This record gives sequence, C-alpha cells and structure tokens, in this order.
Amino acid sequence: MKPVVFVLPGNEPLGEKLTASGSFEAGEFTLRNFPDGETYARILSDVADKHIFVLCSLNNPDPKLLPLVFFADVLREFGAQKITLIAPYLSYMRQDIRFNPGEAITSQTFAHLVAHYFDELLTFDPHLHRYHSLDELYTIPAKVLHAAEPIAHWIKKQVAKPVIIGPDRESKQWAADISSKIDAPYVVLTKVRHGDADVEITLPSIEQYKEHTPVVIDDIISTATTMMQAVKQLVAAGMQAPVCVGVHAIFAGDSFQQLKNSGVAQVVTCNTVTHPSNQIDVSAQLLEQII
Ligand code: R5P
Repeated sequence: MKPVVFVLPGNEPLGEKLTASGSFEAGEFTLRNFPDGETYARILSDVADKHIFVLCSLNNPDPKLLPLVFFADVLREFGAQKITLIAPYLSYMRQDIRFNPGEAITSQTFAHLVAHYFDELLTFDPHLHRYHSLDELYTIPAKVLHAAEPIAHWIKKQVAKPVIIGPDRESKQWAADISSKIDAPYVVLTKVRHGDADVEITLPSIEQYKEHTPVVIDDIISTATTMMQAVKQLVAAGMQAPVCVGVHAIFAGDSFQQLKNSGVAQVVTCNTVTHPSNQIDVSAQLLEQII
C-alpha cells in the first residue's frame, strides 16, 4: 500500500516532485474558507491504515496552523495509521528564550501543538541556536534534513572561484560544511542585532579573497537585513558583487526586491518555501529520507 501525500496549498512545486517520484498516492482534499473566515476541511482519499504525509511549509505559520490541526484530526478519525508532517521550513524556532518577564516562549507552545496532532515531523535545517536538537522541544520523532549538499552542488556549478561567507556566528556550521564539500575557503562575519531590521555586521580581514566571488549563506532570509548588511560591508571592502544563498526564503514585505537592489549579483534559495528565488532543489534529500 503506497503512502499518501497531501500537498497543502502553496507547496505545489515541491509536492509535484514528490508525487512525480511514483512513491506516493496523491491525496485528494478540499480546504477552503467559509465566508466568515472559518475553515472547511474534507479529505476525499481513503486513508485507513495508511501512512499519511502532509506537506506544509510553515512560513507565515499562524493562518496555516488551525487548518493543519483540522486536517490531522480528520485524517486520524478516518483511520490513518501514522501521520507525518513534512514542514520543509519549521517556524517558531527563534523565540527560544524569555528575554523579558511575561514573554511567551512560543517555540515550546508551537511544538506541543504539532506533537499533539502529528506522529512524526520532517524538516530542513531548523534554526537551532539555543536549542541544540529538536528533541529538546518535540516529543515526537523529529528528523532534520540538510540542504548543504544541493547548495554546495549549485555553487560548484554556478559560481567561479567562490569564497563562502557566513554572516554571523550561527551560520558557521553551514559555511564550514559547504566550503568543505566544494573545497572553497570560508569566512565568518560578526553580527550584532539591535532590532528586527537593525543589524550591525563587521568583517574580518578579507583582503586575500578579492579575486573570489563572495557567496553569503544564511539559513533564513527574513527581513533580508542580515544579507543586505553583509553585502554592504563586502562591497565596501572592495569585494566583487556577492551571490546570496538562503535555505528558507521567508522574505518579509518587499525585502526580496530590496535585496535584489542592494548590489548583489544574484539571490537564490532552496525550494523549502515556494518563492521566485528558488533555484536549489531539496526534493532528493526528502525522497531519500522517506522512501
Ligand atoms: C538568525 O540568526 C538567522 O540565522 C538569520 O540570520 C536571520 O533569521 C535573518 O534574518 P533577517 O533576514 O531578518 O536579517
């Protein structure tokens, strides 16, 4: 019996790659809003005794969560044997500490909700900073997949003489891993965040890489402030126009356009979040894990 994959709205490009593999039955469903804004959810496929995958990337998560809960609940009622949430981008990973009294640690509440409705979670490169593993948060098996391999492959094919740039301390893990895969040097910058869209970036000495193409790599591009500040400092230091690579294309407001206008050579992302900048395909990593 083939597992069934339900591809929730907005996830079609990656979903098509999963169904095209022939390893899944494509789940049929209706998900819409009543005129008053409430959700109508109906599954049309037979799910009894089957392993069910629900593909739903969790960028802009709040409007997605309640439909996801209704969906998981009805799958369970109709006899799904196991329900795996594939959330290529996992939200609510950055609010991992109480900075001020009374603040909600939303990462915990969010994890409790997901774990209550799903049996398993699959995600790509979650933002693990103060949490070292998803197991510290999730009580269900939570598997982490990595985009480093397809990113390294893309850089090797598309960028001449790259130097990998990690814009902050946390990005060192990706910068080091990717640079070792393509035998390129890497440099990690120093970032201090003063506010949502206010970051300060400083460069170490980078003189010896003037002939290289800087490839700035970050896990999340949200307001793109980190990327834009890194680009600004690199260009001011006399480096070539940087290529910006993000795993997860969140791009709040008009930040994609702002970043494209900031003196970059290119902006590319992985297809963990559907976006016009998607050029790096992670479906092989997903299929390898599932099949
Ligand atoms: C934070 O430490 C992350 O790794 C990213 O650097 C951050 O989320 C990027 O956010 P923004 O695009 O808003 O600067």
